[in-house]
Amino acid sequence: MNSYYKKDEWLVVEEGFDPEMNRESESIFSLGNGYMGQRANFEEHYSGDYHRGSYVAGVYYPDKTRVGWWKNGYPEYFAKVLNAPNWIGINLTVDGEVIDLAQVKINSFRRTLNMKEGYLERHFNITILKTKTLEISSKRFLSMTEPDLGLIRYSVKPVNFSGSVSFTVYLDSDVRNEDTNYGKKFWKEVSRHISEGSGMLISRTMKTDFHVALGMTYILEKDNKKVKIKPEITDRAKYVANTFSSVAGKGEELVLYKFVSVISSLNYDKKNLPAIVNQRLEFAIRSGYNKLLSDHINEWDKIWATSDVVINGDISAQQAIRFNIFHLNQTYTGKDERLNIGPKGFTGEKYGGSTYWDTEAFGLPFFLKTADKQVGKNLLLYRYKHLQKSIENAEKLGFKHGAALYPMVTMNGEECHNEWEITFEEIHRNGAIAFAIYNYIRHTGDKEYMADYGLEVLIAISRFWSQRATYSENLKKYVILGVTGPNEYENNVNNNWYTNSLAVWTLSYTLKTIEELEKGNSSKLGKVLKKTNFNFKTELPRWSELVKNMHFNVDTKRQVFLQQDGFLDKELLSAESIPKDEKPINQHWSWDRILRSCYIKQADVLQGLYLFEDKYDTETIKRNFDFYEQMTVHESSLSACIHSILASRIGNIAKAYELYLRTARLDLDDYNNEVSDGLHITSMAGTWLAIVEGFGGMRIQDDKILLKPLIPDNWKSYSFHSRFRGILFEVKVSSTQTIVRNLSEKSLNLVFDTKNYIVKGKTEIIVK
Ligand code: BGC
Repeated sequence: MNSYYKKDEWLVVEEGFDPEMNRESESIFSLGNGYMGQRANFEEHYSGDYHRGSYVAGVYYPDKTRVGWWKNGYPEYFAKVLNAPNWIGINLTVDGEVIDLAQVKINSFRRTLNMKEGYLERHFNITILKTKTLEISSKRFLSMTEPDLGLIRYSVKPVNFSGSVSFTVYLDSDVRNEDTNYGKKFWKEVSRHISEGSGMLISRTMKTDFHVALGMTYILEKDNKKVKIKPEITDRAKYVANTFSSVAGKGEELVLYKFVSVISSLNYDKKNLPAIVNQRLEFAIRSGYNKLLSDHINEWDKIWATSDVVINGDISAQQAIRFNIFHLNQTYTGKDERLNIGPKGFTGEKYGGSTYWDTEAFGLPFFLKTADKQVGKNLLLYRYKHLQKSIENAEKLGFKHGAALYPMVTMNGEECHNEWEITFEEIHRNGAIAFAIYNYIRHTGDKEYMADYGLEVLIAISRFWSQRATYSENLKKYVILGVTGPNEYENNVNNNWYTNSLAVWTLSYTLKTIEELEKGNSSKLGKVLKKTNFNFKTELPRWSELVKNMHFNVDTKRQVFLQQDGFLDKELLSAESIPKDEKPINQHWSWDRILRSCYIKQADVLQGLYLFEDKYDTETIKRNFDFYEQMTVHESSLSACIHSILASRIGNIAKAYELYLRTARLDLDDYNNEVSDGLHITSMAGTWLAIVEGFGGMRIQDDKILLKPLIPDNWKSYSFHSRFRGILFEVKVSSTQTIVRNLSEKSLNLVFDTKNYIVKGKTEIIVK
């Protein structure tokens, strides 16, 4: 296990520079503000290995799908989040020597992510030209209050000499993605402008024609006073720069402030982009670096005040959970319903920045419990707005009559994955999207959502399940054939337990909803049924029939649910028998060997037991947990968190803790040897759930919050915040007592263990 980064409650620190770890660190130290993101690339020139990454949310390119043999139904393209024009660049030359950390002698190096205040810092001490020692620092942030603004403070101090320091401050759109299907560049220049003191670069994406405008300006200071400079201008295709020099005496610090605005045609009319960039730069300069930074820090304070998790007695766990909460909030702020949560957020190109089932299954529960109701609603509206496209997706595959198959991977509602068997056949995503509607309503109490938007989606998804299931004469049951469950180490299986469970759940929830609306809001129901062309006579009985007669595989001897048909024909081995040097198996074994093995990439039956635990007693959950946990290799980031929650559920706190650390420190300790590609943002939400639903045992039961807390042996106490139907509350658990503090005005109905309590507004209770 990798412990490259120093442990601290609020910081992540890289002490000393290891070029071999640079790609990992660029992911770990990434910044974002929901609107744009930036890997922790260096500002100055670096000739070593790195992965350049600047991202603008919602700006993508449809890269033509690359497959060996084209088959009907393959999607046309794989959507890619684009490595966007580079705004951070500041090249540095001192006494004629280019500062390049791959070339100079590094005496010390420290890179820090300050999670409390939301910025990235670097300090390094280097020697150039054999004897000249310099101290260089950089600090940058992407403003949480002014999301188009990125700011950098870059300082240079000669330690034992005085010399000439030359800066080149630039914008560059000659960038490419590492991940392209045909090696193409995706950006074209629209216009550029450069003058002494400021520059602008407007670029457009090919095919999608998004326009992105970058504007920059800067100030150079010595002793807090502006230094007069005479910049030289560079103006060439896709690149604009100002280069200027100043003399720094021994021990004197030159400080450069770079202000950048990044705006796109997603939010503004293309023709207005230049004027708006200029206004934004004027605003930035007028506000000043310090004011923008303090506003940014205040915004982070507000986020932490309602979402922090405090763990006493375990710094590793503490750092990890804050790291997870920090990155989730950097990725998605919930202000724009056109945006979503890519599995890697703004930290890399993998998964194309697109939306996966991860959002509904992991991201949504986190945001429902930690953010304003509108944030969760926006995540749902994103899918609502894609309903028509999902109906078209289903039609392309032969489904009819308004059946919808939501895409497994999408940017705009269209399916755009890169592989068929694994990704496409994961039709379970449709179930996660239906479940999200239920989850949203039970968390927020927003019942209106159902008739206004939810039911339309439920009907369309139910139609899909109804047409996708077929009747087996042999079994005298309905079956769902040819799917891939969450466990992607099995493809094209029949009767995946999780998928069948979700199908049945969706159908019965839709039936129940129609029944309830008939009683409660028949006029709105009438409108939805008319709009969806609903057929009471044929659809209702068919759905009820499916609910009653779906096939589920059970091993009667072991009394466990079986992941799919034929699972017991496999050689059932424990993951512990895999030699260490063959793990992760997806980096060592052939695909064929993986598919034949019993090994499970991620929670599958257990994912179902997690969602539908109310239906099962503890013994059933325990038997299934013991059976599947030993075969699960957790090579998906989405796995360990669910197992951790279930381990807590069955009272196995040691296992829950082991799995918690694995999920929480997945990226910091690079368990699966893939952090160089980016962080696992969506699984970070699962980590938070492993504390709140796992250790805290928090559940929702009608209008009550249930708590059944456990505490890992080595923790003195832990506390978390959560929201429920407009109430913000804090729970603090120690081994002797639990304090529930209601931070809102409205009373909170609580069940602790099995006893009922009412926690009045602005009060707290202590329960044991
Ligand atoms: C997981 C999927 C997930 C995807 C994106 C895959 O490795 O198996 O369940 O949707 O990553 O996070």
